[in-house]
Amino acid sequence: MFAKPPGIEDIFPDRIDRWNRIIGAAESVFRKYNYREIIIPVMEFTEVFARGLGDETDIVSKEMFTFEDRGGRSLTLRPEGTASVVRAYVENGEYNRLAACKLFYRGPMFRAERPQRGRLRQFNQIGAEFFGSQDPYYDYEIIAVADGIARGSGIKGYEILINSIGCTGDREAYIALLKKFYEGKKERLCEDCKKRLDKNAMRLLDCKNESCRDLKKEAPVITDHLCRDCAEHHDTVKSYLASNGVICRDDPFLVRGLDYYTRTTFEFVSSQLGGQNAFAAGGRYDGLVEHFGGKPTPAVGFAAGIERMYLLIEDQEISSSGIDAYIVHVGGESLRQAVELASRLRDAGFSVDMDPASKGFKAQFKKADREKSLYAVIIGEDESAAGTCTVKDLKTGEQKTVSSSECAAMLAKSQ
Ligand code: HAM
Repeated sequence: MFAKPPGIEDIFPDRIDRWNRIIGAAESVFRKYNYREIIIPVMEFTEVFARGLGDETDIVSKEMFTFEDRGGRSLTLRPEGTASVVRAYVENGEYNRLAACKLFYRGPMFRAERPQRGRLRQFNQIGAEFFGSQDPYYDYEIIAVADGIARGSGIKGYEILINSIGCTGDREAYIALLKKFYEGKKERLCEDCKKRLDKNAMRLLDCKNESCRDLKKEAPVITDHLCRDCAEHHDTVKSYLASNGVICRDDPFLVRGLDYYTRTTFEFVSSQLGGQNAFAAGGRYDGLVEHFGGKPTPAVGFAAGIERMYLLIEDQEISSSGIDAYIVHVGGESLRQAVELASRLRDAGFSVDMDPASKGFKAQFKKADREKSLYAVIIGEDESAAGTCTVKDLKTGEQKTVSSSECAAMLAKSQ
C-alpha cells in the first residue's frame, strides 16, 4: 500500500459540497466585481519566486520545492500565485497595455512547511490581483472582495486586520528606528531575531516567540511614521471600508512575510484556527511589476486558503445534493432494461445510478438511500415482463407504475 507524502491531502466527495460552496462564493463575487480568471502554471523558473518574494523570506529560503529540469535549469513548484501572475502580466503585451486589469486565479500551491492543522505542503488558494492604479479605492475593493467571499462561504466570527507599511522611504526610516529601539535589548531576542535584526528588522514584529512578543509591545509603530501621501492613502482606504460596512481593526505590527508589499497590508483571521489563524491575506505591491521588468504599474491583491476556510465551515450543516434516481432491478432481462432506462434518463438530463451486480431489493434501496436519491425506479419481475417501471418517491413513499418510455416525463413532472 502506498501512502501520500506528509502535508498533502486527498479531498474526498464528502468534503466537496462545502468546498464548492467556497468556490461558488468566490466565482460569484469575482463576477460582481468584474475579475476574470487567469490560469497560471504550477511551476516557474526559480528566479520568479526568488526575485518576487525576496531571498530572505521564509518561503524562498526554506520552503520551496525546487528541482532541476533535464536541461539543468532550476524550477520551483509555485508557493503562491502573485509572482506568477505578475510574471504572466509583464510577459503578455496585450494585458499589460490595458489601463486596468483585474485577474483571479485558483489552484494548488506548494510550501515545504512543517505540517499541522491548517498548514499543509500542498494547499489550495483562490486569489485576485488588480493592476493599474494607486487609487485607495482598489485597496478597499480587494478587501471587500475577500470579505464577500468569506461571508458568501458562510464563515462567521472573523476579524480583518489592516496596516500600512508605507513607501520605501517610510520603511527605511522606520527600520532605522526599530534598530535603535532593539539596540541594547538584543539579549532578550530569540536566536532567529538576533540574526534578522541586521538583515530584515521588520520581521522581528512577526516573531511568535514570547520574549520577542513582549518586547514588541514597546516598539515604535510604523503608522506613526508614515509620510503624508501614505498616511492619506491609508486613511482613505479605511474610510471606504468603514462607510461600506467592512469592519477592520488596526494592527500596526502586521508586516507580512513577503518582501513585495508597499502601503496596505491586511489579514483575515479567526481564533477558531489556532496557531495558523489567517485564512486570507494580501496587500498592495506597487513596485513588483517594475521589479519584473514591466513598466511601473501599481497593484494590489489577496489570496485565501481554501483548506483553512473549509475548517471554518466544516461543522456547518449543508444540504448536500444527491442524485435524481436510483434504478432497482432483479438481474437478467430486468438488468438489460435497467441499463437502457438509465441511459435514456441520463440523456434526458437526470443524474442516475445503479448497481449491475446487486439483485436484492433491500441492498439496492440501501444504496439509493446512501446516494441521497430522490426516486427509486424499480424494474421487478412484473415490470420487466410488462415493459413498465415503478417510480417511488423516496421521501413520501408514494409510487406509480408507468411505461418505461414515460419514466423521464414522470420524473420531470414530479420535480
Ligand atoms: P500568504 O499569506 O502567504 O499570501 O497566503 C495566503 C493564504 O494562503 C493564507 O492566509 C492561508 O490561508 C493560505 N496558506 C498559506 N500557506 C498555507 C499552508 N502551508 N497551508 C494551508 N494554507 C496556507 C500569499 O500567498 C500572497 N500571494 C497573497 C497576495 C496576493 N498578496 C497580494 N496578492
